[in-house]
Amino acid sequence: MNAIPSADARLNIPAHVRHQRLIAWVAEMAALTGARDVYWCDGSDEEYDRLCGQLVDAGTLIRLNPELRPHSFLARSSPGDVARVEDRTFICCENKQDAGPTNNWVAPSEMRALLQTGEKALFKGCMRGRTMYVVPFSMGPLGSPIAHIGVELSDSGYVAVNMKIMTRMGRGAIDVLGTDGDFVPCMHTVGAPLEPGQKDVAWPCNDTKYIVHYPETREIWSYGSGYGGNALLGKKCFALRIASWMGRAAANEGTPWLAEHMLLLGVTSPEGRKHHVAAAFPSACGKTNFAMLVPPAGFEGWKVTTIGDDIAWIKPDADGRLHAINPEAGYFGVAPGTNEKTNPNCMASLARDVIFTNVALTDDGDVWWEGMTDAPPAHCIDWQGKDWTPAIGKETGAKAAHPNARFTVAATNNPVLDPEWDNPKGVAIDAFIFGGRRSTTVPLVTEARNWVEGVYMAATMGSETTAAIIGQQGVVRRDPFAMLPFTGYNMSDYFRHWLAMGERIAALCAKSGAKVPKIYCVNWFRKGADGKFVWPGYGENMRVLKWMLDRVEGRGEGFDQVFGTSPRYEDLNWTGLDFPPARFQQVTSIDPEAWHAEMKLHQELFDKLAWHLPPELSATKARIEERLAA
Ligand code: OXD
Ligand code: MN
Repeated sequence: MNAIPSADARLNIPAHVRHQRLIAWVAEMAALTGARDVYWCDGSDEEYDRLCGQLVDAGTLIRLNPELRPHSFLARSSPGDVARVEDRTFICCENKQDAGPTNNWVAPSEMRALLQTGEKALFKGCMRGRTMYVVPFSMGPLGSPIAHIGVELSDSGYVAVNMKIMTRMGRGAIDVLGTDGDFVPCMHTVGAPLEPGQKDVAWPCNDTKYIVHYPETREIWSYGSGYGGNALLGKKCFALRIASWMGRAAANEGTPWLAEHMLLLGVTSPEGRKHHVAAAFPSACGKTNFAMLVPPAGFEGWKVTTIGDDIAWIKPDADGRLHAINPEAGYFGVAPGTNEKTNPNCMASLARDVIFTNVALTDDGDVWWEGMTDAPPAHCIDWQGKDWTPAIGKETGAKAAHPNARFTVAATNNPVLDPEWDNPKGVAIDAFIFGGRRSTTVPLVTEARNWVEGVYMAATMGSETTAAIIGQQGVVRRDPFAMLPFTGYNMSDYFRHWLAMGERIAALCAKSGAKVPKIYCVNWFRKGADGKFVWPGYGENMRVLKWMLDRVEGRGEGFDQVFGTSPRYEDLNWTGLDFPPARFQQVTSIDPEAWHAEMKLHQELFDKLAWHLPPELSATKARIEERLAA
């Protein structure tokens, strides 16, 4: 790295920053990008308000009516920058096999030439005319043995204020770093330098986009997008892609760990018994709703509390228990479909202190999105800043809010935040749940017979695609562990890592008497012949959750089917819900024809992942096929 250009006053290094490697990197990046100046975020509330004020002046944020939505803002992105760009996301490790067939791969030297070192490298001069924000953050409670520090350098003030909500951002992270702590450097630019006198736009970005990870050196380089997971680099890039690589690499040093696309929740029974569950669903499949579930009628005295809604970092302790933290400090959730019925706790969280992106603006200065209320407003301004009425929507198909419109809000706004959510030790997991969005084939709930069969179920999970990613929606794709776009290394090695973790904790639990978590596969999304969802979902998922926890406690009944154990109708508590056995049959039936076709798709996945595919998974498949044939 270059020496610190001590004469360069533009670096504005605060007195509390004493980490020479960090300072040298900031200096080097300021020189590379040609940033106009450097601003070090301290993470204070005063700073947040000041930066939001500047973003309002710049037209990036619109201040919402403080009487209706206090301390809240709306941002509208460029129409070409509305979701994660998986086809522009790269894992650049030395060996192509280590990225595997599910990731885009480019050799690090080639990518570095393109981004950093080549004559026309994209990052050269990319921040001209802009401020470079230095955003230090902790993923996980400050100082937690499971947490890690990152520093994002970004030319987007919108990113800086979102990172304040989404992470433990600012001075605390700098203090944890001290003089020589490790951090993941996260380099981000919207890729829109400003020439002298050039007027800025509300949402600068670039049609060319690169979301790049160098897992061996633990670096992230993101170019051209200001949106969500492309730009808030603590989230998908660090907490999943880089962290999944780190968790597996840690096996060499003794304690491997897991970085997963999972919500974390606590369930407390009326008698006060508490369990913790980690659940993986693909993007926009209801993780936030499940994490904030309100127990329905018939479950009086039960309480569900949120630890996290998107990502879990999980480490075994010496007794074999898996301890999980939520590395994030806020929610970046999908707004459309969220309402008082589907997620009242989320609606309460959104009452104030929110940054909304790409929702509609009502005439009284509040927000609206499809599904928020039964009746749409008579008029509003849509996510692209155009007039919208229900008639326009009907005529043109235009949505008032983009289907991937988001809210950014602090976890502390959540009325059912779990008291342990910030515990540096994390919470001990009792059960894992995996679930895709499948209108057919996959039954409501199955308990895996053992860890290996659970890994098989998770590895072969399919799901219909949603608006969270650019591309066609509603097509079934295999999404192993809901991690298809997020595993930062070879997917077959990832399966091996899960199997090895199972063996490791089983051995430790055998000694300590702790229980290995059970693994479940669920599907809330079966549809009837009328195309409507059969299972009511949302709070009613509590009925399935309780059955799982009964099983964890060794009490719940069920029957053995091809893939594992499922509840009979009479094994679920139906108090307060009219859901006759015939409908239950519709969501639990296993159609052998459909499953023969499904097994072919599992084979297609396994063919694609043949390199290093664990033999246990092929053996499990053969056993399931035998059962199906019988
Ligand atoms: C997310 C996603 O933003 O999964 O959480 O796309
Ligand atoms: Mn997600």
